[in-house]
Order: sequence, then C-alpha cells, then structure tokens
Amino acid sequence: MTLSVKLGAITLSNPIMAASGTFGYAKDAARFIDVSRLGGIVPKTVTKNPRQGNKPPRTVETTAGLLNAIGLDNDGLDEFCEKKAPYLRTLGCPIFVSAAPGSPEECQEFGEKLSTLEGMTAVEMNISCPNVEHRNDWATPEYCAAMTKAMRKYLTLPLSVKLTPNVTSIVDLAKAAEAEGADMISAINTCYGLAIDWRKRKSRIGNGYAGYSGPAIKPIALRCVKQIADAVNIPIIGIGGIANAEDVFDFLVAGASAVQIGTANFYTPDVTVRIIEEMPKIMAQEGINDLSEIIGTLPKI
Ligand SMILES: Cc1cc2nc3c(=O)[nH]c(=O)nc-3n(C[C@H](O)[C@H](O)[C@H](O)COP(=O)(O)O)c2cc1C
Repeated sequence: MTLSVKLGAITLSNPIMAASGTFGYAKDAARFIDVSRLGGIVPKTVTKNPRQGNKPPRTVETTAGLLNAIGLDNDGLDEFCEKKAPYLRTLGCPIFVSAAPGSPEECQEFGEKLSTLEGMTAVEMNISCPNVEHRNDWATPEYCAAMTKAMRKYLTLPLSVKLTPNVTSIVDLAKAAEAEGADMISAINTCYGLAIDWRKRKSRIGNGYAGYSGPAIKPIALRCVKQIADAVNIPIIGIGGIANAEDVFDFLVAGASAVQIGTANFYTPDVTVRIIEEMPKIMAQEGINDLSEIIGTLPKI
C-alpha cells in the first residue's frame, strides 16, 4: 500500500500538505510534529516588498468557522530567499513557495529569483487573497491568464495557481490558468465574509470584510474542486475545511490529487500527521492499495 501521489512531474510521499498562512514557515509546527512526514508545506505568502498587513483585530472565530484579514503580512521576497528558505530546505519535505506578485510585471523578479532558489519544489501563485487591494483584479479570468502567462515565462519550477471561490465561475479562472501553462490548480482560498458587533455597528475585523475558512467551507471547496476537475486536465490541490481523513478522501474522489490543511492546524496542531496515520487504516478497510485508484472517481454531476 502506498500514500504516494503525483502532481504532474512532482511525486509527494502522501497527499497531505500544510496550507499557506496557517503554518507560518514551519518553525512553530516543528514543536508539535515531525514536519518531514508531510506531503508538502506551503509557507506564508510572500510579496515583492515587505507588508505589515492589516490593522487588528485580524481574526475572529464565528459559530462555524474562522474569519481572517491578515493582509499578507510578510517580510518580502528578498528576505524570504535569504532568511526563510534556508530553514525550509532543511525540513526534508517538498516546499511549494506561495508567491503573490502584485502585477504581471512583478512576475519576472519572482520567476527568476524562485527558479534559482535552492531546494524549492514548486510555486503556488496566490491570486486569491480576499484581504488585499488586488482582490477584485484577481477575480477575473483575464487577469488570471495574464498573471499565469507572465509567471510561466520566467519560472522554471512547476506552477500551481491558487484560485478564489468568490466569483461566479471558478471554472473560468481554472481554464484561463491551464491555457496559459499552469501545471496545477490550488482551490480554494477563503470565502469572502463578514462578522459584526451589531451593538457597536462595527465589523469585528479591523479591515472590515474578511476571509472565511474552516469546516464550514468544505462543501463550497468540494463543489469548486469537482467543477474544476470536470473542466481541466491538470492536477488539483484541494483546500477548504479539511479536518480529518474522511474529508481527504472526499476531496480525492472529487478530483483532487493532493490536499492542504489550513484552519484545522490552529485547533489541532498535529492534525496533518494524525490524518497521515489514519489514511492507511481506511485504505485497508476499503481495499485501496494506491490512491490513484480513487482520485477523480466521482462521476460527472
Ligand atoms: C489566518 C489565515 C491566513 C491565511 N493566509 C494565507 C496566505 O498568506 N496565502 C494563501 O494563499 N492563503 C492563505 N490563507 C488561506 C488558506 O491557505 C486556505 O486556502 C483557506 O483557509 C481554506 O482552507 P481551510 O478551511 O483548511 O483553512 C489563510 C487562511 C487563514 C485562516
């Protein structure tokens, strides 16, 4: 039996990855788990210049999920390459660098610097964060195409494009990314939401609107993955509300070749490793030897 999966030319030892923004640069997580056991890690998104992020409060728990508006707080591309990457490359598991160039023009610097950065496996281009000024640009197939084309031109590593669910048709975004040379699709980023304190007539988040995540968004994410799987021929990394091994199998059957765990890391810091341990038991019960036997087996809806 094997948990190994393929994402195009990349082979992961298992399909369980840590999602960007919920795992930092893996240093804190290393106190709880052996991170080398993960299928992959997507560190916090990096932008060209350092960003302070949005004003607090940046997160709030709601009845069924988490709202955040961190605003891509990070130290910038050069600092990532010099200070974060050396530690990440010691972890012994694939690293998908999460990159958010601010424009097609900025893709050149990202592509050139990340292509030559030792020990990186792939790039996940984040054109889906709902908490920054580009949020509306990022939601059009035209912009998705322009960004993918520009990044593809300069990047020699495999490229995944991370998409927003906050659009009428995520399929149009996925098709645009595929047409311009994306190797994979990561879906989904957070759902645009709002929590208010009605007595104060105020948003509970400093930035106003925010991104919603956690188990509550799993049906939305599964729907997106299934729709994309029926429309494109490149591998999909499923993200959204995954909290246990049963959730992972749902995503694989819907068409994801790997998954990322986000919010669940906050309340169960060893959730990724627990899932990796649970999966073989379920596979044995169900007579599954290789995950390729079940990936994308949900009939067209
Ligand atoms: C606090 C927080 C910060 C996040 N930061 C990023 C980020 O920097 N880049 C990114 O691509 N996604 C970011 N995300 C989105 C997650 O990677 C993931 O797509 C989303 O939360 C859905 O998965 P989940 O329901 O398992 O959390 C963030 C999510 C949370 C909760």
